[in-house]
Amino acid sequence: FVNERTYQKYLEEGREEEFHKEFDKAVNELSSGIGKEYPLIIGKREIRTNEKIIVTVSFNSDLRLGIFQKATENELNEAIETAENAYKEWQYSDWKDRVEIAMRAAELMARHKFALAATITFENGKNRYEAMAEVDETIDYLRYYAYLLEENRGYIREMESRIYKNEKGYSVMRPYGTWFVVSPFNFPLAITATMTLGSVLTGNTAIVKPSSDTPLSAYNLIQILRRAGLPDGVVNYLTGKGSEIVTPALKSKRIAGLAFTGSKDVGHKLAKDFLDVDTRPIVMELGGKNAVIVTDKANIDKAVEGVFRGAFGFGGQKCSASSRIYVETNVYDTFLNKLVNRTKEAIIGDPTKKETFLGPLINSDAVSKYVKFVEEAKKGGGEILYGGEVIDVKRRLVKPTIVSNLPLSHWLWKTELFVPIILVTKIGSLEEGVKLANDVEYGLTAGIFSEDQKEIEYFFNKIEAGVVYANRMVGATTGAMPGVQPFGGWKHSGWTGKNAGGPYYLLSFMREQARTMYT
Ligand code: ALA
Repeated sequence: FVNERTYQKYLEEGREEEFHKEFDKAVNELSSGIGKEYPLIIGKREIRTNEKIIVTVSFNSDLRLGIFQKATENELNEAIETAENAYKEWQYSDWKDRVEIAMRAAELMARHKFALAATITFENGKNRYEAMAEVDETIDYLRYYAYLLEENRGYIREMESRIYKNEKGYSVMRPYGTWFVVSPFNFPLAITATMTLGSVLTGNTAIVKPSSDTPLSAYNLIQILRRAGLPDGVVNYLTGKGSEIVTPALKSKRIAGLAFTGSKDVGHKLAKDFLDVDTRPIVMELGGKNAVIVTDKANIDKAVEGVFRGAFGFGGQKCSASSRIYVETNVYDTFLNKLVNRTKEAIIGDPTKKETFLGPLINSDAVSKYVKFVEEAKKGGGEILYGGEVIDVKRRLVKPTIVSNLPLSHWLWKTELFVPIILVTKIGSLEEGVKLANDVEYGLTAGIFSEDQKEIEYFFNKIEAGVVYANRMVGATTGAMPGVQPFGGWKHSGWTGKNAGGPYYLLSFMREQARTMYT
């Protein structure tokens, strides 16, 4: 298994201009073809409903990206029926066929990667580098899960020990039934993919309900899986309001499992509703309030670059975003000065342009949240070292914001913000930093900057988080890659503890059957 690294490859081969040309071409092609209507996909049927959802282009709300359907309980029930029927055969499908489908889908995606990346930029405003990285991540999930199926030979394993001579045993991992997949706006392709693939590559069927801010990338994913050979009804696509499809889906006993990525509050509510009806498996990746510790043994330039990217990449709209920065007293001023200067350089604007680092926030609610958090930080005694301003309300452009001196007891230190605001404070020691870092209900990602191996080991051993990094410049706490950094959270940040893109992920979507026979 080898990770797809599109932009880096172009760079290494001295073809950066070609990358930009290809991306610009994809942007132009998409611009001339936007505004189409997209149906629900239930089995092989494409369904249109009376009511619609209009999705606009991230960087120009006067432009329609697409018209999507507003499914109701009727369509949900049809989807459940269809998925159940498909499950009858699909659960017994040969794992080798599933591997082939995944590999074919990866090839199709690789062939259309620029169009898929441009779509992400149009949908959620991610810059071209991060959009392409997300397409790469999706291709990685396809290939990595195919590789896992191969490596585990379909998760059918002969047991070695026997009590009786004529006894023969197997452990067979088997699917549950139909999974309901609810995916977020921030990784509309990759996160939708990991949960959908976790379901269907293990012999389950799935009903996928993407975020209403970003339904097009999920549509692309489902169409590619179908073109790659996934049989009708194995994956179904429903767009609509959560209250009209998610709530009744959770109440249905015919849904076998729930996969969700999103905020902790929503996740816990869905989980409660889901488990009230029946005891059923749940795979959830929830929020984060991710800490970075910069010790006085850090290479400060590395720390500045890592924190800048981890905090402000995609405007902090990642569950993995760096959010709380704890800096040892000796290096505090140097680090902050440099961080402010680095942040000033960031180009904010049209995300389709190659020079843009930060595009628009996802919607006007996010802008309101940003304004509110900045006000609360000021009221609470925080000092805005940089940012704190909305650049353009209509275009939803805001400045990355660095807040210092906010008392540690303030609620902003404990709450996931999902906008580009970080809180920075001094610490007297690494031990104090780790203690503060752990003092939240979340435990998703965390990072340290230190050139001292002992400090790094201490941090890794004591920090309560599912994904931890030392000296990561590409984003102090962000950018996990499938097969390299299994991604998932501890405490209130996760549910199963088996990380996406890791060796155990697929196990969450299967139940074990011990088979024993006597001759
Ligand atoms: N998997 C994404 C990251 O690591 C969320 O940034």
